[in-house]
Amino acid sequence: MLKLTYHGHSCFEVNTGSYNIIIDPFLKGNKNSDIKAEDVKADFIVLSHAHGDHIGDAFDIAKKNDATIIAVNELANYAADKGCKAHNMHIGGSYEFPFGRLKFTIAHHGSSTPDGKYMGEPAGILLSIEGKCIYHSGDTGLFWDMKLIGEMNALDVAMVPIGDNFTMGINDAVKAIEFLNPKLAVPMHYNTFGVIEQDPQEFKRKVESIGKQCIVIPFGESIEI
Ligand code: NI
Ligand code: MN
Repeated sequence: MLKLTYHGHSCFEVNTGSYNIIIDPFLKGNKNSDIKAEDVKADFIVLSHAHGDHIGDAFDIAKKNDATIIAVNELANYAADKGCKAHNMHIGGSYEFPFGRLKFTIAHHGSSTPDGKYMGEPAGILLSIEGKCIYHSGDTGLFWDMKLIGEMNALDVAMVPIGDNFTMGINDAVKAIEFLNPKLAVPMHYNTFGVIEQDPQEFKRKVESIGKQCIVIPFGESIEI
């Protein structure tokens, strides 16, 4: 049994019982976050890309917990330069970590640090843990290869952005769920800033109208998968 907790924006924790993995820990400055970076206990931190609303508090959390940052090569090197333990990967590659297997997939977006340094390609994240498969798309527009991700992986949960402006909006995200064909759709990357205000219930209704299940996880709450 895996516990999936949503901290607003694109930040999720995956708890396996033995390991705690946090994805895109943007907590300070995230009005919807229910936790403080100081209170996070993590073994691994996975970053989809380097934008400030995704690396967030990653380096502080990594140092405090002696946790390993998992990211594409350029961003992992940057984390290592900042004094963090890092595991360098890249898109298309997977690796068996103590908690399970992680693979980086493509995402159509940008990736630079808040001060403008090039950080390689943005990524999506596939986690295969204890027979469950979780896909976190990162920030991305809709892309046809989501069909391939869905064909090659029996997804239990897919987290997709619905905020529009910087990423897919609701209608494209519903199409993404059709392509990915997960057991459960979970919306993310909405209602953090003015330009990404969206109604997640509209997404849920539209996902259900194509015969798929959706849970809008309230900020700070968890589901079991
Ligand atoms: Ni971004
Ligand atoms: Mn973002």
